[in-house]
Amino acid sequence: MLIDIIAGARPNFMKVAALFAIADQYPQLTLRLVHTGQHYDANMSDIFFRDLNLPEPVHHLGVGSSSHAQQTAAIMIGYETWVKANPPQMVVVVGDVNSTVACALVAAKEGIPIAHVEAGLRSFDLTMPEEINRIVTDSLSSLMFATEASAVANLSREGRPLSGIHLVGHVMIDTLFRMKLKAEAITPYADFNLQSHQYAYLTLHRPSNVDDEATLATLCEQILWLSKQLPVIFPVHPRTKARLDNSSLGKQLQNTQAIHLMEPVSYLTSLSLTLNSMMVVTDSGGLQEESSALGIPCLTLRDTTERPITIAEGTNTLIAGDWSLFRRRVGEITTDNIQYSQGKIPYWDGRAGVRILDILSN
Ligand code: UD1
Repeated sequence: MLIDIIAGARPNFMKVAALFAIADQYPQLTLRLVHTGQHYDANMSDIFFRDLNLPEPVHHLGVGSSSHAQQTAAIMIGYETWVKANPPQMVVVVGDVNSTVACALVAAKEGIPIAHVEAGLRSFDLTMPEEINRIVTDSLSSLMFATEASAVANLSREGRPLSGIHLVGHVMIDTLFRMKLKAEAITPYADFNLQSHQYAYLTLHRPSNVDDEATLATLCEQILWLSKQLPVIFPVHPRTKARLDNSSLGKQLQNTQAIHLMEPVSYLTSLSLTLNSMMVVTDSGGLQEESSALGIPCLTLRDTTERPITIAEGTNTLIAGDWSLFRRRVGEITTDNIQYSQGKIPYWDGRAGVRILDILSN
């Protein structure tokens, strides 16, 4: 069976890598990697291909950045041209980025069955572009691979047929386990004269956090407070950089010695910064999960999470604008003698990719 695997933006690359890493064991499946080009900078895309040993894409749509409608439309036009000339028998989309929904729409209209990896997650917040992408993609998918039980419940509540829903675990955690030894061998924090478990690893890129000036100002104040408790390593996403460059608070972060700003980092560097941190402070979905899998405390700077298992069975605390909770949790983490022990979330065992390809080959 000929299968297109779609990847477009940074968090997609580690997810599809889990499928390509084991593809040799499934000679009945031919996996073709299609890159939409939603992310295109060397350190947002190419570096992930190198770190993760991903194959060269068979096709690159080269869409780049623009408004949601323009980006989604450009991906649809490019992908439709590709599938008409080179039709696959199935399309696998991952996660919830614009590339995911755009290619799912094209496949659905071409009558090609869709498998959605990371199906069923819901924040119940329609102001999040990803939530719209998740709902539309799931409604078009005939196979829905879920990472946690809440996702299965969401899909069945929405009336999706149970026969298409499979709780398989998380391909991103497969990749984490595969790459952990390599990440343990590097020490990116040492570039700032820091030691393992003595800094916070911060990332911030959600439009709801960084696009609104007042919200970003509040976050910067909290980051400045955090940097008085422990050093902070902060790789800055291009969206966030554009906003910080225009604000005096951005300059204040830059001029604070305990805050170490960096360009966006590779997968291995990010994994190393996570597993060596004292805590992760983030608005990323992936980091909530990776820190939970590694047993590193995570403080999530959002109002909702579509990944509730990271709170119930992982290490995540949802801050939801409660800055006294944030300060209390930072205080507890910096004073407690934390034992970092690997998480035990059901099915997050490094075999999600095998479960998915087993189902696809049957
Ligand atoms: C996208 C995803 C988000 C994911 C995030 C991870 C959607 C709706 N959002 O958000 O779910 O968590 O990726 O990073 O799909 N830019 C560059 N270089 C690049 C890519 C982007 O400079 O290689 C800049 C551009 O100015 C662009 C901005 O970053 O306008 C935002 O990029 P975009 O892909 O639109 O959304 P993200 O915020 O990255």
